[in-house]
Amino acid sequence: MNPRYKIHSEVYERYENFSHIIEDLETGEAIIIDPAWNEDYFLDRIEELKVTPVAIWLTHGHHDHVSAVKALRDHYPIPVYASNVEIDFINSYPKGDLPPAFRELPEDVIPLYDNDEIDFAGERVRIIHTPGHSSGSICFLLSQDIITGDTLFVDGAGRADITGSDPEDLFHSLNRLKEEVPHHVTIHTGHAYGPTATATLASQLKTNPFLRRLNDISEFVEYRMGR
Ligand SMILES: [Fe+2]
Repeated sequence: MNPRYKIHSEVYERYENFSHIIEDLETGEAIIIDPAWNEDYFLDRIEELKVTPVAIWLTHGHHDHVSAVKALRDHYPIPVYASNVEIDFINSYPKGDLPPAFRELPEDVIPLYDNDEIDFAGERVRIIHTPGHSSGSICFLLSQDIITGDTLFVDGAGRADITGSDPEDLFHSLNRLKEEVPHHVTIHTGHAYGPTATATLASQLKTNPFLRRLNDISEFVEYRMGR
């Protein structure tokens, strides 16, 4: 059976960020994932698609994934969700003194915990906590697709050399995705760094150099940190 949703993914701005708008084809409701840089981009897309935003989901707290959240909420007073770990990490710093990769989240951001499920478009969307690129990175697993943020790219994986990163955590997170995510799903990433916009997890297990190094943690860490 075809899913009741459609994922609109487009590249924008200087870091080749992917934004994702998940549309419920039955109700016209939409989730906005990782809005950053320029809120007008999203306002235009929402209008073009004729959808009604109902929530913002964040894969992690880096500025190139969240910097348009506050401005968007001036137009759409909708709830924002992020990992409880990312929220705690960001809140552990004094206001105005965050590591440069991060941005503050709204005070009413709603925490998502590992293995939480969110109902949307007839799906039970599962939250998978995948630390490594940042300590509170999460993926959103739908029946046919997974939103991976900066944890996994097409033929790549997130950096693990910035504050909040841990390459050993990234190794374990990618192993978890390999074990727990059905291999037929299509990955939707946080940046357009790969040779194609999307790919199935099955194909990535063959071509992604990080997914091909999931048997040996020291080899994985050396490969990740040497690039
Ligand atoms: Fe990031």
